Amino acid sequence: MKTSLDPVPEKSPPLLEISRLSTRFRTPHGTVPAVDGISLSLSAGETLGIVGESGSGKSQTLFSIMGLLPPNAEVGGSIRFEGKELVGLAPGELNKLRGVRLALIFQDPMTALNPYLTVERQLSEVLQYHRGLSRRQARGEALAALRRVHMPEPARQLDRYPHQLSGGMRQRVVIAMAMIGGPVLLLADEPTTALDVTIQADILDLLAELCAAGTAIVLVTHDLGVVARLCDRVLVLYAGRVVEEGLTRDVFHDPRHPYTQGLLAAIPRLDDDVGRPRKAIEGQPPDLLALPPGCAFAARCPLADGVCRTAIPRLLPRVGGGAVACHRENPGAVPS
Ligand SMILES: Nc1ncnc2c1ncn2[C@@H]1O[C@H](COP(=O)(O)OP(=O)(O)O)[C@@H](O)[C@H]1O
Ligand code: SF4
Ligand SMILES: [Mg+2]
Repeated sequence: MKTSLDPVPEKSPPLLEISRLSTRFRTPHGTVPAVDGISLSLSAGETLGIVGESGSGKSQTLFSIMGLLPPNAEVGGSIRFEGKELVGLAPGELNKLRGVRLALIFQDPMTALNPYLTVERQLSEVLQYHRGLSRRQARGEALAALRRVHMPEPARQLDRYPHQLSGGMRQRVVIAMAMIGGPVLLLADEPTTALDVTIQADILDLLAELCAAGTAIVLVTHDLGVVARLCDRVLVLYAGRVVEEGLTRDVFHDPRHPYTQGLLAAIPRLDDDVGRPRKAIEGQPPDLLALPPGCAFAARCPLADGVCRTAIPRLLPRVGGGAVACHRENPGAVPS
């Protein structure tokens, strides 16, 4: 039994702590606020799902963490990883982290694979570059990495080129490449979208295994079923802003934001009539170059009223944990 004399366990600092991240793109038509003041934190071994419609800033959030943005991007705010500030970090310093402590899996495995290199070369380049292993040692580690991702006939695949592999096998190679440096944080951008449904389940099992082995994962997906299965916490983005976040079970069981409610209502269920699609949220997300002055969701929200059209709702704690940015949830919290 615990007594008041027991030492209070020290809370370990978050592995990743993002504060007021803003990623804007300068374009000939104006500045696009792709990520607009996002804050989040993730502890070692935790899994966070990021959901939202296409164009809501999910990928640019991950690319900002990885420092993989084009030259027309401007990043503001703070991204601390293992206590180190990544915003403004010299490219050489970021390179030391990427692929070692921090890794990214893209939606399309071909983006990450070099079509002219065998599987062995793709995998061993990371090892030779970061750990100075010999070619022979690297081959052994590459084989072990393929085994870890349950690649069928792993030794045979080492000498093959990406075009000789199926989509699922390619994504296994990409995950093996991401994991070979032993990252503590894996960022996955819709890692199963480009795959057949049967392979999707395998890849998700693999991510669950990595998570159980202690790797923290940020998983971007438009599939709320995947979030329910894999993620401890969920963050809902709309037009580059966080509209709701919290423990997955709380948000799914009791969504407070009308947008989250709409996303959840659109999930097909087993007891649905076959052929009867569920109700999707009507309308389109706003043009980021012409955002309305108030809540970005107002034009589609069945509950919108006057204040929604004039003041941006702040993200404030939800009753029972998490946070929500909606005037109806936080009446009176209009910024001055
Ligand atoms: N290089 C760029 N220049 C201008 N706008 C961009 C650029 N890259 C992305 N965007 C815009 O940023 C917004 C967020 O994109 P993204 O994060 O890729 O969305 P998603 O949630 O679908 O992953 C989109 O409106 C997109 O058009
Ligand atoms: S702030 Fe208003 S418009 Fe926005 S989600 Fe809440 S009720 Fe709807
Ligand atoms: Mg994307």
